[in-house]
Amino acid sequence: MSAFRRTVTVRPDRLALILSPNHPTKNTKYTKSAKKIWLEWTRIHGMEAAHTMTTITKPRGTTEDDITAEVLRRFDATAQPRLRDIMQSLVRHLHAFVKDVELTEGEWMTAIQFLTKTGHMCDDKRQEFILLSDTLGVSMVVDLINHRKPEGATESTVFGPFHRDGAPELPAGGNIAPRDKKGVPTIVSGRVLTLDGGPIAGAWLDVWQADSSGLYDSQYAGTDELHLRGRFRSDEDGRFLIRTVRPVYYAIPTDGPVGRMLSATNRHPWRPAHIHFVVSAEGCEPVTTHIFDDADPYLESDTVFAVKNSLMCRFVRHDSRDEDAARFGVEPPFCTARFDFVLKPALR
Ligand code: BEZ
Ligand code: FE
Repeated sequence: MSAFRRTVTVRPDRLALILSPNHPTKNTKYTKSAKKIWLEWTRIHGMEAAHTMTTITKPRGTTEDDITAEVLRRFDATAQPRLRDIMQSLVRHLHAFVKDVELTEGEWMTAIQFLTKTGHMCDDKRQEFILLSDTLGVSMVVDLINHRKPEGATESTVFGPFHRDGAPELPAGGNIAPRDKKGVPTIVSGRVLTLDGGPIAGAWLDVWQADSSGLYDSQYAGTDELHLRGRFRSDEDGRFLIRTVRPVYYAIPTDGPVGRMLSATNRHPWRPAHIHFVVSAEGCEPVTTHIFDDADPYLESDTVFAVKNSLMCRFVRHDSRDEDAARFGVEPPFCTARFDFVLKPALR
C-alpha cells in the first residue's frame, strides 16, 4: 500500500513534508486537518508544487533509532557539505552517547544546568568552555589533528585561556617578572631555527607564564596590569634570551563548574610547571607551545593532557655566578634553561 492511500491523522503543526515524485490520487484519504493544509499548500504554491507534497503516514518517533535517523535526515539538505557532515556526525555521536549511558531525565537536566553555568562563567577574562574542552582532552585532540609536524619541528600544545594581547616588546635579556620577588630568577635562552638547522633572525617570541604563586596576572582581582608577559625577537643567529622566574606547577581555576566536575570525578587540577610561547617568523608556520620543567611531579598527569616529550626542558640550578648571571645582574641561586624552537616552512 502506498503512503498516499493511507489515512493520515496529523495535526497541522506535525504535518511533515517531503519532496517526492509521487502525488496523491483520487483514492487518497485525508483527515480534515490534513486536507485543509493540502488545499492551503495548493493555493499558495499551485498544483505543480502541490503534487510534490507527500505526507508521511507511518507513525513517527516509534523507536530511539527512528528519531536518530529522522534527525540525521533533517540535515540532508544543508547547503555546505562540511557543515552537514559535522552536524550529522554530532547527532550520531550524541545520540549514541545518550543511548549508551541510558541518560535519565535528571541527568539530562544536570547536564543542561552544568553547561548553563559554564556559559555564565565566561567573560573577557575567563573562558570556562575552553577550560572544559581542555580538561576533557578535546583541545589536545584538536591540536594534534591540526598541527601534524615533520620530524624535528617543535610540537605545539594547548594555547590555554591566559594569553593576553599587548605584552610589551622587550630587548634580549629583558625581565618579564620584575615584580615577582619570591620566584627563583631564571634565564631562558635558545635559538629559533629552520628544519635544517639554520638560524631564523627576527622571529617573534610571545611569552607568558604564571608567577611563583602559580597565578597569572589576570587572576589577580582589581588590576589589569600585565605581568610575566613579553615579546622578544631573535637576533641574527636566531638567539633569544629571556629573564623570568622559574615556573611552578599550578592548579587551573577550580571555582567554577569545571572545578566541580574535576572533584566529582576524583581528578586533580594541577598543571606541570611550564612557560608558554607563540613563536612566529616570516615564511614559517607559527607554533603555539610550552616548555615544561622536566623535573615536575605532574608531567604524567597534567590535567589538560598537554605534555609532549619533545617539550621537556631542564631547569638547571646555579649556586654561583656565571657569565650570563653577571651580564644580567642575576644573583644566585638562579636557574638557566635552554630550548631551541624549530619552525617548519609555511604552506604556500
Ligand atoms: C595554561 O597553561 O595556562 C592553561 C591551559 C589549559 C587550561 C588552563 C590553563
Ligand atoms: Fe599555563
